[in-house]
Amino acid sequence: MKKLWMTVGLPRSGKTTSARGMNMPIVNPDSIRLALHGQRFIEESEPMVWAMAKYMVAALFEAGHDDVVLDTTNTTVKRRDEWIDKRWVRKMVVMPATKETCIERANALDDAYILPIIEKMAAQFEPYDWANEDMEWERHI
Ligand SMILES: Nc1ncnc2c1ncn2[C@@H]1O[C@H](COP(=O)(O)OP(=O)(O)O)[C@@H](O)[C@H]1O
Ligand SMILES: [Mg+2]
Repeated sequence: MKKLWMTVGLPRSGKTTSARGMNMPIVNPDSIRLALHGQRFIEESEPMVWAMAKYMVAALFEAGHDDVVLDTTNTTVKRRDEWIDKRWVRKMVVMPATKETCIERANALDDAYILPIIEKMAAQFEPYDWANEDMEWERHI
């Protein structure tokens, strides 16, 4: 069965660094945003960004890849459930970094833009629930 490896972590938790080390094709909505409109985030473009991400994942599997990494936050059940699909199984790759670590890294990168986003996503974070989410769960360190 084909596997969609989904990173789970706040901004600056190390998702992209980990994804690049996994030796698999990567689908990253941040990259789609830059390719589509050249900005970090434009609300009106988000439906197109996510539609493109879904088709990129499906097309990479269709082209013959057995593993694809989806490099995005995936920090809520709703976000994770959007990727349930008969054509692949989901595997979660959980970033161990705490909110405080993510904030430290954002500060080290002089990236004030991301700080309120880290706070908001940390407040909304929904950890994995074995009873209600039917998937394998893996921790990446
Ligand atoms: N395991 C790690 N230990 C220390 N720093 C890390 C680690 N993983 C990533 N970083 C650093 O943290 C910052 C954010 O990493 P990145 O992979 O871009 O996170 P994300 O994709 O989750 O926003 C970068 O400066 C990166 O070099
Ligand atoms: Mg990233």
